Amino acid sequence: LGRQIHHEESVDSTQKIAHRLAYEGAQEGTVVIAEEQLSGRGRMDRRWHSPKSTGVWMSVILRPNIPPPKAPQLTLITAVAVVQAIEVLTDLTPQIKWPNDILMNGKKVTGILTELQADADRIISIIIGIGINVNQELDDYPDELKDIATSISIEKGEKLSRAELIRVLLGKLENLYKLYLDKGFYPIKLLWESYAVSIGKNLTARTITGSIYGKALGITEDGVLMIEDSSGKVHHVYSADIELDV
Ligand code: BTN
Repeated sequence: LGRQIHHEESVDSTQKIAHRLAYEGAQEGTVVIAEEQLSGRGRMDRRWHSPKSTGVWMSVILRPNIPPPKAPQLTLITAVAVVQAIEVLTDLTPQIKWPNDILMNGKKVTGILTELQADADRIISIIIGIGINVNQELDDYPDELKDIATSISIEKGEKLSRAELIRVLLGKLENLYKLYLDKGFYPIKLLWESYAVSIGKNLTARTITGSIYGKALGITEDGVLMIEDSSGKVHHVYSADIELDV
């Protein structure tokens, strides 16, 4: 991965550029990195705060030969890669909150946004957007983010080289992606569960159709969250916002 890197100063969103490149036939592993995003995108139509030269704002194009319902697995692979990269460079172990938030001290340090270009039964490309808060200070955050966001430098107490982080991350992602193509999702699922905060805990999952409260049992082979409610019924959750009980 990363043999083709497009490094941009200022863009709307690296996702948008990666979508265009993928559509034009860019090879698997093509990476788009920007110093700044003017309209960085988050999940569920949210914005992603992406100030200049403080974070890693990056999109990676993959073309795995898997059916579209398996695409969420790539989000989980990426989350494991980010955790491993941060572990290598800081000695701190972040935690994963299903499906795609990476937390340090309970606050969000990384978000992942996976988007697809697909036919009914075949993936043409997967665009994985990764936003890592690296060198922001607490004062750099707008008030509404101060309680929920953090950065690696806030947690580690010193600044980190973004170039180094990108290099280590792409190496980890490549290893895990190869493992996945070779051996399937199971080894990734074990790694993912070892970093997950939510498993075994009570939580509320807010989905578009309503809220489910119960205990998180784990994830399925497809990366779907399983929640057992108080009546013992197990719900499969594909997409939701998760709130953990405190
Ligand atoms: C989320 O947690 O809601 C996902 C955030 C994903 C942000 C990254 S930054 C690089 C890429 N480009 C975007 O516009 N979004 C993703």
